[in-house]
Amino acid sequence: MAYTVPKLKDFSPEALDKAAAALLSALEKESSSLGDDGQRKAFRDRWLARKDGILTQINDLWLKPAPKDAKREVGQRVNNLKAKIEQKVEAALKSAPAEKIDSSIDISLPGIQRPIGAEHPIIRTMNEIISVFRNLGYSVAEGPVIETDYYNFESLNFPPNHPARDTQDTLFLANQESKPARERLLLRTHTSPVQIRTMEKLKPPLRILIPGKVHRNDPPDASHSPMFHQVEGLAVDTNITFGDLKGTLDHATKALFGSDVKTSFRPSFFPFTEPSAEMFVSCFICGGSGKRGNDDVPCRPCKQTGWIEILGCGMVDPNVFEFVKHNGYDPEKVSGFAFGMGADRIAMLKYGLDDLQLFFQGDVRFLEQFG
Ligand code: DAH
Repeated sequence: MAYTVPKLKDFSPEALDKAAAALLSALEKESSSLGDDGQRKAFRDRWLARKDGILTQINDLWLKPAPKDAKREVGQRVNNLKAKIEQKVEAALKSAPAEKIDSSIDISLPGIQRPIGAEHPIIRTMNEIISVFRNLGYSVAEGPVIETDYYNFESLNFPPNHPARDTQDTLFLANQESKPARERLLLRTHTSPVQIRTMEKLKPPLRILIPGKVHRNDPPDASHSPMFHQVEGLAVDTNITFGDLKGTLDHATKALFGSDVKTSFRPSFFPFTEPSAEMFVSCFICGGSGKRGNDDVPCRPCKQTGWIEILGCGMVDPNVFEFVKHNGYDPEKVSGFAFGMGADRIAMLKYGLDDLQLFFQGDVRFLEQFG
């Protein structure tokens, strides 16, 4: 044990009183400079620790070695001194300023829980569609939401002033009049312009899927929104036929809605495909009967027809290939099919929703159901 208390040679009352006074003044000094918790503990141990504290040392060095005839006297003084020291140490510990605690933080409160986000149901639906086609060898292509008239319309075989443009109520950017018509900017009305943009960059054969946002001047209601989402597809190769189109889309529809559904193709018109079709899927809500349950309740999603329209499609019009002929798309040599579907509508059907606006209101009570 390392002694910090002096050994005594002289055990007379005067010598003891002197040594005691020296210890007490040392204690006084230390007491006045007590700081943080660590210091306070060291101070307490130094004076009171049972094994090697100063009180124990006093016992060992002052009382034990005292001559027999002085023991009584020494014992009394040592006891006195020990009581004083004990009392002063405790008092010093009590009155030393406590460590500063920031009272603005209540450490007993539960922490702030950051809710974990989830994929938005529309993004999730688009990703599901993409993964079905990825398994068929398609890759993903993307393009700008602000598009030129050329890519959105002209190169897709909508000539300037052609009435087919009226089917897509377009939002144009302001102050474009000084530019040539085909360079004027608009918010793309469909994802089809990415067909041309990709064919300009990549030579055939090509199999791509194009997810993205599109805009039209439609006021929002339960089934319309000025911003919505499409997933477009394009396959170009030698000898692609309408049979390839039907087989591919029938497979994808079964992968998305279940293997029980049937598909039906009905003639339609799009400027960039010829022939064109709309594809219907047999209603997976009523099983195609148009009625629900035993009570003959009319089925709403299919409007009692038993069929739901989910996409437009067709064989790529040779006029479209003419715009990218320079990159290997000679309409005499290649053929292809294309399709485009509304991802929002498909998400509504998949999740059984009757109001499109729920997707865009950002209401956590709605969104967290998809977590
Ligand atoms: N772009 C069309 C629309 O928004 C959808 C469409 C129809 C895309 C036929 C295609 C297609 O690629 O072949 O109404």
